[in-house]
Amino acid sequence: MRIKYLSVIKFLSILTFLLLASWLLTSDPCAQEKSAQESPCLTCHLDFKKPAKSVHAAMGMGCETCHMKVQGKEHPQDKGSVVLTSNTPDLCYNCHDQSKFKGNVIHAPVAGGMCTSCHNPHKSDSEKLLVSNMPELCYMCHDKAKFTKKNVHAAIPAVGCTMCHSPHVSPNKSLLSGTIYDVCKSCHVNKATGAHIVALPGGKTHPIRGMPDPSTVKWIKVPDPKRPDREIEVPDPKSPELTCVSCHDPHSSDFRKLFPQDRICKKCHKY
Ligand code: HEC
Ligand code: HEC
Ligand code: HEC
Ligand code: HEC
Ligand code: HEC
Ligand code: HEC
Ligand code: HEC
Ligand code: HEC
Ligand code: HEC
Repeated sequence: MRIKYLSVIKFLSILTFLLLASWLLTSDPCAQEKSAQESPCLTCHLDFKKPAKSVHAAMGMGCETCHMKVQGKEHPQDKGSVVLTSNTPDLCYNCHDQSKFKGNVIHAPVAGGMCTSCHNPHKSDSEKLLVSNMPELCYMCHDKAKFTKKNVHAAIPAVGCTMCHSPHVSPNKSLLSGTIYDVCKSCHVNKATGAHIVALPGGKTHPIRGMPDPSTVKWIKVPDPKRPDREIEVPDPKSPELTCVSCHDPHSSDFRKLFPQDRICKKCHKY
């Protein structure tokens, strides 16, 4: 009985020793150093070793997935001694499905292949490898003043720009995630009928879509169907439609309720 007890203790201590030893071996700081040294680039480009909030998964595949040394040139002494394996955006499309960046409406910098104007190809302290936090990223190219007037739409600080806009491509106008009506309705379902605009007799509601916006409508001349020798004026079917943004700025405004102007009714009516 006693012998058995001792051999169990012996067995357990050997086991503990083995576990400890294997843990020590794998957590050996030199072992970590070795894996980093596998990329000769990192011996000089030390800042790539510093941790960051987001690191591109492609970095794990080595610098030479995207960069290559040019034969006959010394790096870093010679200019152009290290070049990209291909230029952006083709470089990015080696691994990212190009079809996701094609569509009806393409954001200008995406169409121009300028992926690195918004993304750091290596690592970043903002999410998604972005070169700066949202919405500051968008203000690098879009006038911040338009989005920071006296009354800011609460959706912007709450959910940012990409709740309503895709940064890359979209099937919809203005890179929106849906039609203007559907985008606004997704958060303001009780405003979707237009009943909130003005109380009308007989349960009628103020129109909210499906006709040209009279404040921006363009008139065009077409032959009069009754008298082909004459012309009549009709609204250009390509004129902007009446929508929520006919009466509310989606971003910010100096007036109440995000109206684009004081006395909103005057925008389209005489009163
Ligand atoms: C002997 C040190 C050293 C090694 C090794 C090294 N670099 Fe460099 N690299 C430099 C220095 C110094 C510069 C210029 C300083 C700067 O502009 O940051 C530079 C600049 C660069 C540049 C930008 C300028 C250019 O030529 O386009 C790239 C890209 C680059 N290195 C990539 C690499 C890659 C990839 C590797 C590994 C294949 C590598 N480097 C290995 C020292 C080194
Ligand atoms: C996913 C592709 C990719 C990988 C992987 C990659 N790079 Fe780059 N690197 C780029 C691109 C693209 C640019 C050009 C950036 C620009 O246009 O602003 C660049 C630019 C650079 C530059 C010059 C500008 C800068 O950011 O300092 C250096 C240096 C550099 N890379 C070094 C490295 C090293 C070292 C590694 C590996 C540890 C590496 N890169 C891995 C794509 C990559
Ligand atoms: C060698 C393959 C490879 C190349 C080349 C490459 N990527 Fe990636 N990238 C990946 C992988 C793998 C992931 C992680 C999985 C995913 O999100 O698809 C990733 C993720 C990303 C992410 C999301 C990061 C996150 O934190 O969610 C962005 C943004 C990105 N890549 C941008 C780029 C850009 C811009 C380029 C061109 C300069 C590029 N990639 C080139 C392989 C690559
Ligand atoms: C105008 C800035 C901008 C440009 C230019 C841009 N991106 Fe992005 N990208 C973003 C933002 C913002 C996100 C994050 C979207 C989110 O979180 O909803 C993102 C996300 C991504 C992701 C992560 C997956 C996803 O869709 O959320 C990948 C991969 C990516 N971008 C690749 C690219 C490539 C490749 C290019 C060039 C063809 C490119 N981006 C150009 C702003 C940009
Ligand atoms: C590198 C510069 C750059 C950055 C960063 C940038 N944009 Fe743009 N954006 C443009 C250019 C250029 C246009 C086309 C000219 C214009 O309408 O101002 C454009 C147009 C747009 C349009 C109108 C598209 C259309 O077809 O009507 C929207 C919406 C937009 N950007 C949203 C964003 C958002 C949201 C961000 C941040 C995620 C952003 N942009 C960041 C350069 C940029
Ligand atoms: C609540 C949804 C929503 C949010 C959030 C939003 N937008 Fe918009 N944005 C719109 C709508 C709707 C339009 C179309 C306006 C029109 O057709 O008159 C638009 C148009 C645009 C345009 C093109 C027309 C113009 O005004 O120049 C740009 C650029 C733009 N938005 C950038 C941004 C940026 C940057 C942010 C974040 C700071 C942002 N948007 C946040 C809904 C939104
Ligand atoms: C992501 C959700 C979201 C979307 C999408 C959204 N909003 Fe809002 N909106 C809010 C929140 C939150 C408030 C503040 C609380 C409230 O008044 O309901 C607000 C407030 C408003 C206000 C009142 C502002 C004030 O000063 O009293 C107007 C007007 C408005 N939104 C119009 C729109 C229009 C037009 C659209 C479509 C372009 C839209 N919203 C899309 C979330 C959203
Ligand atoms: C013809 C002009 C007009 C149109 C179109 C319009 N609104 Fe309004 N909206 C108003 C007026 C006027 C008010 C202010 C009502 C008040 O003072 O109580 C208002 C107020 C609001 C408010 C703030 C309500 C509050 O309690 O503070 C929201 C949110 C809103 N509208 C959303 C929308 C959405 C979403 C659409 C599109 C589906 C839309 N509006 C279309 C004129 C309009
Ligand atoms: C963006 C343009 C626009 C704005 C702003 C606007 N309306 Fe209208 N309104 C219209 C259109 C279009 C009609 C439909 C006219 C028609 O059917 O011929 C209409 C119809 C009406 C009607 C129904 C009677 C009629 O003439 O058919 C009333 C009442 C009305 N609006 C009141 C208002 C009030 C009050 C405001 C301010 C709170 C306002 N509207 C703001 C565009 C607008």
